[in-house]
Amino acid sequence: MIGPTWLVDDLLRVEELLLRTAGSSRHPVVAEAASHLMKAGGKRLRPALVLLASHSGEPGREATDLAAAAVELIHLASLYHDDVMDGTDTRRGVPTVHAKWGTDVAVLAGDYLFAQGCLLGARAGGEVPAILSLGLARVCEGQIAENQALGAAGRSVGQYVETIELKTAALFAAACEMGACTAGAEPERRRALRDYGMALGLVFQVIDDLLDLVGDPDIIGKPPGTDLKEGVFTLPVLLGCKRDPGLRALLERGERRLEVVLPRLRECGAIDAAFAFADERADAARARLDGLGSEDWVVALRTVVSGVLAQADRDRPGAS
Ligand code: IPE
Ligand code: IPE
Ligand code: MG
Ligand code: MG
Repeated sequence: MIGPTWLVDDLLRVEELLLRTAGSSRHPVVAEAASHLMKAGGKRLRPALVLLASHSGEPGREATDLAAAAVELIHLASLYHDDVMDGTDTRRGVPTVHAKWGTDVAVLAGDYLFAQGCLLGARAGGEVPAILSLGLARVCEGQIAENQALGAAGRSVGQYVETIELKTAALFAAACEMGACTAGAEPERRRALRDYGMALGLVFQVIDDLLDLVGDPDIIGKPPGTDLKEGVFTLPVLLGCKRDPGLRALLERGERRLEVVLPRLRECGAIDAAFAFADERADAARARLDGLGSEDWVVALRTVVSGVLAQADRDRPGAS
């Protein structure tokens, strides 16, 4: 990740804590299953947000590192469970935990990571455990809301936004707020950072949803068309259904093939419109940082917004 040089050292310290924590069980299968996707990589975006936001005040290094590791453990745990629910076989470019060890181990290893995340959060102290728990509660609410909307081609954009704010953006907001709070930042700065995290998380999920349709599986490390196959109709599909009633009828009759749906989404301009939505929300995310000055950590938070958009640059209509 591009950012201040100190961020590299901070992330390396957190990485060491993450690997140590995930592999800490004396039971070899637990240690192996819980470490499996941690070792496979991942962007470590949420810990980076904690570390960057902690410069909004006086960073308390130990509490900040613990909060940064805690949020990644909670995130990873949610991915263990998400992969079971989505029935996907690849994540971070390697086999998923349920594909390797079965569903029971995947669910329990996910629970184990949740518990380890809570433990680190508790060790960070202060308001961290409360912010983290609330973030996790939101993720669960969002995942259930999404599950309830499976196959709903008439879902509104407003309902979609509400769902992804819960399932994804709330944990981004929690990461930023925890960074601010371990630094003892002023309430106004803390609020601005939380709002930035929420806005960024929204853009992040819109881009992830676009990549699920138009991305290169070798680059994203996940199988393409998973949302569609599972009946999770994301922003491009919902916009497509409004523009092309024939597409909506097809989806309502159970069409789930990417090779059938994607050309129609491109043709009716739904892919373009979803990119435009992401760009607009990215501007809103950057605007949240306006009152925070121009130190390196604020510049880096702006760069994170561009980096999230850039993940899909090569997949934008018209990109060479
Ligand atoms: C995946 O998150 C889940 C979503 C919220 C879309 P990331 O794309 O941050 O996953 P990793 O951590 O980099 O693997
Ligand atoms: C899942 O969203 C977000 C979570 C809260 C786990 P997705 O289902 O889009 O995540 P990916 O695409 O599998 O990473
Ligand atoms: Mg998924
Ligand atoms: Mg996805």
